[in-house]
Amino acid sequence: MTQVIQLDSEQPAQEAIERAASIIRNGDLVAFPTETVYGLGANAMNESAVGKIFKAKGRPADNPLIVHVCNREMLDIIASGVSKTAERLIQKFWPGPLTLVLERKPEVARSVSAGLPTVAARMPRNAIALELIRASRTPIAAPSANASGKPSPTTATHVLDDLGGRIDMILDGGVTNIGIESTVLDMTTDPPVILRPGWVTQDMLTEVVGIVERTASAEELRRSPGTRHRHYTPHARVILIEHGSTEIIEVVCREHLKDGAVGFIGHNQVTIDDVLFYSIQLGNRPEDYAHSIYSALRELDSRNPHVIVVEGINDDDEGAAVMDRLRRAASELMPRS
Ligand code: TXA
Ligand code: MG
Repeated sequence: MTQVIQLDSEQPAQEAIERAASIIRNGDLVAFPTETVYGLGANAMNESAVGKIFKAKGRPADNPLIVHVCNREMLDIIASGVSKTAERLIQKFWPGPLTLVLERKPEVARSVSAGLPTVAARMPRNAIALELIRASRTPIAAPSANASGKPSPTTATHVLDDLGGRIDMILDGGVTNIGIESTVLDMTTDPPVILRPGWVTQDMLTEVVGIVERTASAEELRRSPGTRHRHYTPHARVILIEHGSTEIIEVVCREHLKDGAVGFIGHNQVTIDDVLFYSIQLGNRPEDYAHSIYSALRELDSRNPHVIVVEGINDDDEGAAVMDRLRRAASELMPRS
C-alpha cells in the first residue's frame, strides 16, 4: 500500500514530515515534490535503500541518481574538492534547479553514482523537500518519481499512477512549479559542461563563472550517463514539429487520423472536426510548456492515440530545456535535421 499525504507546500505539517523521515531512516522509499518534478527518495548513504529506487522504477543500474541536500554543510557528507567556482554557483542558485556533478565521497552508496567517481548534488527549492531532508538527517538520493522511460511526474497522481503499490509514501504538495528537471552541470572538467539543459540556462551560468560549455551534439549527449537512455516517452509515437505553420500541423494530423486516434499539443489552435482528434493548447512561453508538457503527454496517452503531434517552441534560453525534453520524447522530428 502506498500512503498519499497531502501537505501545505509552504508550511508542511511536521507530524507528516516526521513519519516520512522515519521511512527514509528505515531504508524505504518516499516520493516528494521539488520545484522541478516529483522525486523518489531514499537514504543516499544506504546501499540497500538505494537499490529499492532502481527496482521500483525499473531503472537501468548504469544511470546514476541525484543526491539532494538541505544546506551547504550537508554537501560535505557526499562531495569533496568543492571548487571556488562551484561555491559561487551554490551561492547564486541554491536552493534551486541546478545540479552539480562533483567528486564523490566514498561513504555515498556506490549504486547512487553507478560506479562513477563523481556524485550529482542539488538543494531543491521546496519546503516539503527541504523539511524531509532535514528531518531524515541524511542526504536523499532521488531520481524523478516516474516509471523508467515515462514522462517525469509533476503531480502526486502521476507518481501514484506509475509507482502505486511499489513505494511506501507519497507527499502530495500539489503541482510542481517549474515542471521539467534541473540543469545538470559537470564541475569536474574545466570549463564546466552542461550535461542536461534546464531552468538555469547557459547564459545564467556564464554570468557567474565565465565559460560554460554545452554538450554539443545529440550524439555526444547520448554518451553521457543517463541521457542515452530512452526518456520522457508516452506509449504513443511522438512527432515533434520543430517549426511549422498551423497548415503543416493540420496536414500531419489529418494524415495520421487515417490510421486511428491522434493527439496534439501546441501553442497554435488546431481545430479538426474528428472525434478521434484530441488537442491540448498551451501558452507559447517556455514556462507554459515546462509547466504543462509532461501532464499533457500523460493525459493524451490515457486516450490511446497511436500518434501524438507536438508543436515546438523557440530554442532560446529556457526554451532550450523544453526542446531538449521534446526531442528526447520524439521518435520523429519535422523537418528532419
Ligand atoms: O530536477 C531534477 O533534477 C529531478 C528532481 C527530483 O530533483 N531529478 C531528476 O533525476 O531529474 P533523474 O534521475 O531523473 O535524472 C538525473 C540525471 C540523469 O541524466 C543522470 O544521468 C545525471 O543526472 N547524473 C546523475 N549523477 C551523475 C553523475 N555522477 N555524473 C553525470 N551525470 C549524472
Ligand atoms: Mg528522470
